[in-house]
Amino acid sequence: MRQLLHISDIHFGRHHLPQLSAAVLAMVEERSPDLVVISGDLTHRAKASEFQAARAFVDCLTVPSLVVPGNHDVPMYRFWERIARPYGAYRRYFSPDMEPEYEDDLMVVLGLNTAFNWTHKDGMIRRPRLRQLAARLRAVPSDKYKLVVAHHQLVPPPRYETQRVLTNAVEMVEVLAEGGVDMVLSGHLHQTWIGNTEAYYPGGRHQVLLLHAGTTTTVRGRGIEKGQNSCNWVSLDGRHIEIRHLMWHPQQKTFAERSRHLFPRHLGFLDGSDGFERLKGLDAGVALGPATTAADGPPAAPWAPPRVVG
Ligand SMILES: [Fe+2]
Ligand SMILES: [Fe+2]
Repeated sequence: MRQLLHISDIHFGRHHLPQLSAAVLAMVEERSPDLVVISGDLTHRAKASEFQAARAFVDCLTVPSLVVPGNHDVPMYRFWERIARPYGAYRRYFSPDMEPEYEDDLMVVLGLNTAFNWTHKDGMIRRPRLRQLAARLRAVPSDKYKLVVAHHQLVPPPRYETQRVLTNAVEMVEVLAEGGVDMVLSGHLHQTWIGNTEAYYPGGRHQVLLLHAGTTTTVRGRGIEKGQNSCNWVSLDGRHIEIRHLMWHPQQKTFAERSRHLFPRHLGFLDGSDGFERLKGLDAGVALGPATTAADGPPAAPWAPPRVVG
């Protein structure tokens, strides 16, 4: 079993809510996930002081973390810096590694940088990087979970204010599906959403689960999470992916579970079987279609919202 806390768009700077980042630190200390994933937009304006605050926050996490940049981590208004050294402040004040990896005996988590300058405002992955990613995914044993973290979205939530996606999303989906990726964790939209690649890019490929986190620590929640804060708790038990969508409860001053979603792994396209999960002990031989809807998962450990001080 592995447990991940997925937070995003923490935007240190003028819109950051310190009470919320303190709550995240308290939750991590109390629940002790195996990994904290931060899917980009660490800052508001890519300033040195904002990166330093983000660095201090990450340094306070009591468990390993994996962080990728977002579009706000490239200077928007400092023209020459944006041209010449778009990642200079990130590298200098936050981390020189913009595409970190995490691996243990159950999962591999690969960070991707999708934030480039204004010629690609919706984000992109460079072709050489895609080829490198494909090779990296091929090298991962198929029994390990393969997770990818990238700031920009591959699929827009239905009726969301923008329907734009990553510039070369289709190419990326092909690489992810071919590589047997279980799930992509993203941010950028400031609204939680769960989807899958086949629903938007139908092609009979391996289905990649898509998990968007809302903004965890700013006032800039959007869409159906306007003005709200959220994050995701992900559990991997070897056969399933369970996602708990947590929303900040202002009165209780805690991240509380809003919904829970359970997905079986579908390795069929990769291991030669038919890829369907079968009911056991109920109706042997009846195949279940790929599950894409929410279901109550087995409560491995009852969720108790962490106490937050302050
Ligand atoms: Fe953001
Ligand atoms: Fe963003």
